[in-house]
Order: sequence, then structure tokens, then C-alpha cells
Amino acid sequence: MAEIKVHQFDAVIVGAGGAGLMAALYAGKSANVAVLSKLYPTRSHTGAAQGGVGAALGNIEEDSWEWHAYDTVKGSDYLADQDAVDVLCQEAINTVIELEHMGLPFDRFPNGKISQRRFGGHTNKDTGKPVTRACHAADRTGHMILQTLYQQCIKNDVNFFDEFHVVDLIRVDETVRGVVAIEMATGEFHVFHSKAVMFATGGWGRVWEVTSNAHSLTGDGPAICLRRGIPLQDMEFFQFHPTGIYKLGILITEGVRGEGGVLINGEGERFMEVRGYAPNIKDLASRDVVSRAIYLEVKAGRGINGQKYVHLDVTPEVVNHYYEKDGEDRRIDRAYIEAKLPDIADFTRTYLGVDPVTEPMPVQPTAHYGMGGIPTDVNGRVLIDANKTFLPGLYAAGEVACVSVHGANRLGTNSLTDLVVFGKLAGKDMATYCESAEMLPLPDGAAAEVIAEFERIRQSKGGVSPTDLRKRMQETMTENVSVFRTEETMKAALDELKELRAQYQSVEIQDKGKTFNTDILEAWELGCLLEIAEVTAVSAYTRPESRGAHARDDFPKRNDVDWLKHTLCHRDGDGYRLDYKPVTLGRYEPKERVY
Ligand code: FUM
Repeated sequence: MAEIKVHQFDAVIVGAGGAGLMAALYAGKSANVAVLSKLYPTRSHTGAAQGGVGAALGNIEEDSWEWHAYDTVKGSDYLADQDAVDVLCQEAINTVIELEHMGLPFDRFPNGKISQRRFGGHTNKDTGKPVTRACHAADRTGHMILQTLYQQCIKNDVNFFDEFHVVDLIRVDETVRGVVAIEMATGEFHVFHSKAVMFATGGWGRVWEVTSNAHSLTGDGPAICLRRGIPLQDMEFFQFHPTGIYKLGILITEGVRGEGGVLINGEGERFMEVRGYAPNIKDLASRDVVSRAIYLEVKAGRGINGQKYVHLDVTPEVVNHYYEKDGEDRRIDRAYIEAKLPDIADFTRTYLGVDPVTEPMPVQPTAHYGMGGIPTDVNGRVLIDANKTFLPGLYAAGEVACVSVHGANRLGTNSLTDLVVFGKLAGKDMATYCESAEMLPLPDGAAAEVIAEFERIRQSKGGVSPTDLRKRMQETMTENVSVFRTEETMKAALDELKELRAQYQSVEIQDKGKTFNTDILEAWELGCLLEIAEVTAVSAYTRPESRGAHARDDFPKRNDVDWLKHTLCHRDGDGYRLDYKPVTLGRYEPKERVY
């Protein structure tokens, strides 16, 4: 076997999306940092976030970080930890201004301040009416955050290892010593020896058939951690965004509804209001509420032409929305839509042949965001048990982490807020940690186990197609562990996933080479997805209540007496062990959510 290259850095960050880059900027102020990504950094999925980053700037109307915190807690169906939510909402304000000072080209109000728009679940706490809180750069806010942070990292000499796919964490007892990665161009294994490691690998939406997530979102980070003895928290809560492009899942930003767009069923009704799902806030209710409403409309036969979609309509004839130009109020028009929603217009024209200025867009719920993940505190330190013991030197931030500020359902815009705020805090903490931590020696054969797994996949003649297994996994998760679940459907998913896991041992790939062997990497990613699917189904099966994105037909009510607690799912031999820890409450007492 060729000799393995060993690199040494104070800190290694896995993933080059917004959280990874923000952490790199801050950790890099005093530590020697490497960022490893299986993509080129600017292709990271943060770039797909569209509508805005939530921060109570109050640039056009009254707002406060406490209202933002209230909406976040209410949106979470009271499962969020309220001390962490306070940090998120307070820090959001300065962090967005910091991004502006880094050069992020936010849209502007006529008064010159950062432009904000409405988004689901963001309200004025006194009136219950929608509030403009989503700071945005057209409908490319994530793209602009990613470009801005990447430029800052280059300017500040952060070390990048692009197309280095991290496949293992080197953990020795209660310490971490680095990671193992494959250089995709050569197929060679590299060991990155470090004092600290951060996972910022994003989500795992590829577990489902219809998703807004890029092909790269295969749950590598959480699967690696799970295999190295770290539990995953609240994995039963996976958000379905209400408006994905029908069949394709590509995101149509909530910003469309923020700009006045409305949802309409096959009977031409504004069903959010007319059918009583959210009579007050209507189309701007929180995502779990709107996704369930669309699902129920379709189930009742009120999809468009009886099909499995509804319409999202932002055409000026229908939308009663005004904007200010040259001191005058103007009704929304083509120029406004093209300026505020250029990517959406482009996507729907390209993929559907639908011009949103003149026609409604066909949409359905799409698997979008994992509220759960690797448990951390607000400084990104990974917590390994219900007593909140942390594993020194191990960090996580962004979607892969569960701080937990999103609880059972994330508020739109808070993903970008989360990754910039907690990426920054984790980066700062890593820098401090690296100042006093020792570089502990690498264990013998640090990469041996994962190299053996790759060789097993490469040599296998088992005849099972990874593509077929992936399809079956996505079908069972879509059918059984989706917007609604029951004991019966989840049991069916668990049985199928067990069978798929057994068959995974016989996957056979076609490409046996080393150079850019995406065949073997995708087969390995499938192993991660299968594990994450099982953890999701096991965690969901064991929670007999409905809360946020976890909606059970057989237990339709929230049960705060028994289930106001976080799930921790540990790997235990070939199975899983569940454990629970309390939710940190604060000034907002759990009550029924009314929109
Ligand atoms: O609808 C959107 O633009 C998505 C934003 C988010 O997930 O926060």
C-alpha cells in the first residue's frame, strides 16, 4: 500500500459552506487552519439558500431580537433551547452588519439600509402580524454569503484542500487527533493530524426522493461521528419546505410569499385562509404548518387538476403587494419580480417553461433541512451525552449541528443566521482551544479501518447496485417517514432499511480505479445515508406525539408532559440506543401554536 501523506494543522474544518468558512475566518486569526471540502468551496450548498438571513435590524419597521427569539421558539414547537435561541437572535444583528462590512452586496431600501422582506413565522409579537426581518440579496442571499466569506478566507490565507473527501474522524478515547480524507483526483488517502476538528458538512436531504438538497448532501459528517461514538440529537425532526418545484424539489424561496405570493389549490382557493390552516397569517405560517396543509389539500383531491401539487402565484394580477420607487407606492410588476426574484424566475423558466410573472408555479413540499444533528453547545463544542459532557477538540456548526435553536421546526431564514452566528462562535472557541491544547500523537494505523472499508467496496463482487439501494431507501423514506408518519409506516421503513443495510454489504461498483472514482465515493456516501435514514426512523418511531415537523397521524397532539425533551440516538453495536435530555426553557412558556 502506498505511504499515506500526513499533514499537520492546529485545526481542521470539514466543509466549506457558510459555517465552515465563518469558523475558518475566526479560528484562523490565531490558529493554523485547514478547510477540507469534497467540493470546490463556492459550490457548497449554502449557495442554494435564497430568500434571506434573519436578523431583527428593524430597518423599515419596528422589530426586536426578543420578537425574533419568540418566533424561533414558537416555530420550533417549543423544543428549541431558549438560552441558545437568545444567543442566535442577539448575535444575528451584529453578524449581519459584519457581513455587510465584509462587502456582501445586500439589496437596499430607498433609505439606503439593508433591505428586508417578510418570511413565514416572523411576526410582530404585539400584533401577531408579519414583520420584515429577512435581510436579502435578491433571492441569492446564500450565494452572496458564500462568495463573500470565501473571498475573505482567501484574503486571510486560510489553507484550502478542495476535493478532499473526509471519510473518518481519528478519535482516541476522549480526544480527537484529526481526520482521514481521500484526495479525489488521485484516490490517495491523507491523514490530517490536528488538535481540533470541526464538522460543517451540512445536511442529508438525499435520504428522500424529492429534495431541495444538492447531490453532495449525504450526511457524511453525522454518520462519521455516529460511527465514532457520538450520538445524534433530534433526528426525527426533518423539515419539508412547502414550495419545491413539482417533482424536482428545487427550492422556490419563501421570499416569493414574502413578496406577496399566494398559495392556491385546485379549486382556486387561498386554502391557508379559506380551509382554516392559518386564518391570521395565511401563507406566511411556519413551514411545518404550510407543508402539512399542502399535503392535506392534495390528499383531499384539491391539488391542481387532482395532481400532487398546488400553485404558488406571484403574478401581478393576483398579488396585492406594493413597493416604493421614486417616492411613490407601485403595485408589484415585472420589473420588481425580475429584480427581487431573478433566480426563481430563471429556475421556473428553465425547468418548467413557466414564467412566474404571467403564470403560477406548480409546487409541492420538498425535503429541505435537518433540525437535528451532532449535539453542540453555543460555542460549537460537541456534546456526547445527556449530561452535556463535551469531547475536547471536537466541534460542529451549521446544519450538521444541533445547538439546538430550531427544535422541532426551523423558521425560514434561520439556517443562514445559524451558520454565520454559530460558525463564528465555534471558530473563536477553536482558536482559544488550540492555544493551550497539545498536538497529541497519531495512533498507529489511524487510517487503516476506513481504508479497509474502501477496499471491501472496491473488491466486492456482490452484484448489488448502489443506485438501486439508494432508490429503495428514498422510496421508503418518502412513503413512510415524510410529512406525516404512523407507527405502521415507520415500522415498514425500519424493516426495509434493515434489509437494505444487509444488502449494502454486497454493493458492487463498476469503476475499480483511483482517479476521480466517484463510483466508490457515492457507494460510501450511500452507507452514510442508510445509517442516517435508520437513525431518523428509529428516533421518529420512538416519539409518540406530533411536534413541529414530526407529525404523526396516530398521535396528532403535542405531549409536553412526557415528550418536551431532546432525543439522543447512539449507535450500539449493530443497533441503536436512545437516550433523552431536557429542553432548556426560558421566558416563553410552551403553549398551543396558533397562526
Ligand atoms: O425559502 C427560502 O428561501 C429558504 C430559506 C431557508 O431555508 O431558510
